[in-house]
Amino acid sequence: MLLASNRGPLSFTLDADGAPRAKRGGGGLVSAIMSAGHAGEHPLWVCTALSDADREAARRSPHGRLDEAGHDTGGLRVRMLSTPEGIDARTFDLAYNGIANSTLWFLHHLLFATPTAPVFDGSFAREWSAFSVYSQAFAEGLAQDAAPGAKVLVQDYHLTLVPRLLRQLRPDLRIGHFSHTPWAPAEYFSLLPQGLAREVLLGVLGADSAGFLAPRWASAFLDCCERVLGAEVVREEVGGEVRHDGRTTRVVVHALGIDADELRERAGRADVARHEEALLARIGDCKVIARVDRTELSKNILRGLLAYRDLLRRYPEWVGRVVHVVGAVPSRNALPEYREYTARVQRLAAEIDEEFARPGWSPLILSVDDDFPRSLATYRIADVLLINPIRDGMNLVAKEAPALSTRGCALVLSTEAGAAAELGHAALLVNPYDVSGTAAALHAALGMDDEERARRTRELVDAATALPPGQWLAAQVEDLAAVRP
Ligand code: G6P
Repeated sequence: MLLASNRGPLSFTLDADGAPRAKRGGGGLVSAIMSAGHAGEHPLWVCTALSDADREAARRSPHGRLDEAGHDTGGLRVRMLSTPEGIDARTFDLAYNGIANSTLWFLHHLLFATPTAPVFDGSFAREWSAFSVYSQAFAEGLAQDAAPGAKVLVQDYHLTLVPRLLRQLRPDLRIGHFSHTPWAPAEYFSLLPQGLAREVLLGVLGADSAGFLAPRWASAFLDCCERVLGAEVVREEVGGEVRHDGRTTRVVVHALGIDADELRERAGRADVARHEEALLARIGDCKVIARVDRTELSKNILRGLLAYRDLLRRYPEWVGRVVHVVGAVPSRNALPEYREYTARVQRLAAEIDEEFARPGWSPLILSVDDDFPRSLATYRIADVLLINPIRDGMNLVAKEAPALSTRGCALVLSTEAGAAAELGHAALLVNPYDVSGTAAALHAALGMDDEERARRTRELVDAATALPPGQWLAAQVEDLAAVRP
């Protein structure tokens, strides 16, 4: 069995002597597979080298096998594809930054159509052709590694074209595709040039099963297949089936959850305790509104800060009694939009500090860095957790933090996160654009009595652990079990 994703478990930097040094990769997909990868069939995880340092690490590993080169992959077998497979740095940059992250990510998160973007011109065409080269090279890498009749689980939008390309190379394989993002509504999706919209859908339909994190996203995918391809679509209570060109693709939903025991074990280590102690020393007996996100446009960190400012202005009783702890993990810094967004977050945080800080009390603690133990410490001290994405495939932080919070935490959650489908009943739901509404929900969450908060936290944890990563991965394997090659 093979698992395929763009980002792998490790991300490298180069030491002064040119030796690659590894760090854990970020994002929900890596968390899920790291935690699930031991399940069942012990798959080989095939990923891409994302930087020069990654390429160097791949080059120094036999057949790109990071585990065999002695890197700590958490016991998983990992092969990192690099230049030998034809993905040179320039092609990769156009494919990853130009198409995957600026086009497909923006499309599925409704960040795509603005007065000035997108522009479909010659450079867009070059990016798309690089994306095709990257997809083909990835498919060829998988075709080489797959045993006859093997199952291949292709993950996420970067590899949206791969199932079809892989099937052309290896019709004997059983192929699944799983989307970790939302899926765009049909009208919005149709803003892509028509040929490309078709290519994306046909790419996924090359798989025997197409998985999604929430029923809404599966249903949007079915709509797109019907409207853009004119495919025959069978809708079921959740998911369904697409019949096109003589093939059938099952459309399924597996709502990825968390492994609370594993998370608690990790959060029980000394590095997390050190961070917790340091944070508590700064916070004293104030209440904590916590959030941890990648510095990502769709996470809506700016409106979250505006809501916090609104809370302090409209409910001044919280001034001096609450601290907003914001963990922002740097992400996709190659894109100017992300750099600008991060700078705006930092500016707004400084403004809030200036408006409210008093001797001995700061309204917020913002850290823009990648520190996993610190994120876990932040979950532990949360009284209120703010998760307000514009749109999110699932949002695992909404599931992780309640399981770790030592005080029991009230969750303020966007209706537009996939997680709202399972956690909505125990959360305070907000419209992510409604800053005043979010401020009011923060006020209600801070004032919630202990008994209610404890009850809601239990309900959140029950829902969050319903399908832990091992079972989520096993469900994708199961989807393929019935398929005849
Ligand atoms: C999301 C995506 C993942 C991606 C992660 C981090 O969770 O669904 O596929 O790996 O973000 O983004 P990055 O661009 O750093 O891989």
